[in-house]
Amino acid sequence: MLVLHDIYQLSGYDFGTVSSMFAVKGKNSLAIVEAGGKGDLEVAARTMEYWGLSKYPVTHVFITHSHFDHIENALFFRKQGAKIVAVAGDADSVEAGDDRVIDHGPFCKEVSRERRFSCPVDIRAKDGDVIRAADHEFQVIHLPGHTDGSHFLKLIVEGKIVYFTGDIERAYYGDDFRGARLAWSGGSDYDRKAFFESLKKIADLPADVLLPSHGQKTMADGWKILRGMYLRALLDWRGPSVQDEYKWD
Ligand SMILES: [Fe+2]
Repeated sequence: MLVLHDIYQLSGYDFGTVSSMFAVKGKNSLAIVEAGGKGDLEVAARTMEYWGLSKYPVTHVFITHSHFDHIENALFFRKQGAKIVAVAGDADSVEAGDDRVIDHGPFCKEVSRERRFSCPVDIRAKDGDVIRAADHEFQVIHLPGHTDGSHFLKLIVEGKIVYFTGDIERAYYGDDFRGARLAWSGGSDYDRKAFFESLKKIADLPADVLLPSHGQKTMADGWKILRGMYLRALLDWRGPSVQDEYKWD
């Protein structure tokens, strides 16, 4: 599905699969954001065919982070010539295919320890790097916590500030703070302290469009979700407030 000019969603909740893969189109090439997991690749291939994207070579695949449902198809694209991009920390776990890659959450309880994936990483990015791919510039904003190398990728399209948010951000509209939700905390390298610092960092980011790897996209005023995530952490991660503890004699 066409999300914005040059940005296509290839798989994910809207397609009945787990991870949202995106294609960013240049003049004669594609960059893929999110390698996806089981079931995503077949749907992504069909979506690319539908939108006439199959004829373009994929030059880069951006790995949002190292959990298995985000790297399973990386090797497929690399064998076709794509460069694999990951951020330091997760670049190591993507290559190692170790415990950091395996999701142990209840949602993923069918995953066994034998179900591991790994892939060589060609570009090890760090905070602030700008990587040119498919005639667009992707800026890396390192936001550790969910995993050590989790990050946002920033893109400016049609004057809109767009972030690919991986698993860091997930919106679910209909409850408080317009549905801001915090990232899953069950990974072996999850670090709440680091994640809180990352939430502080994103709380004041200007943002229009948020494109997460799971769940709902946000097509306007994305900054409200980012701000809401920080507020949610402030409220949920601390002990009872003074007012709650105070007892009248
Ligand atoms: Fe994840």
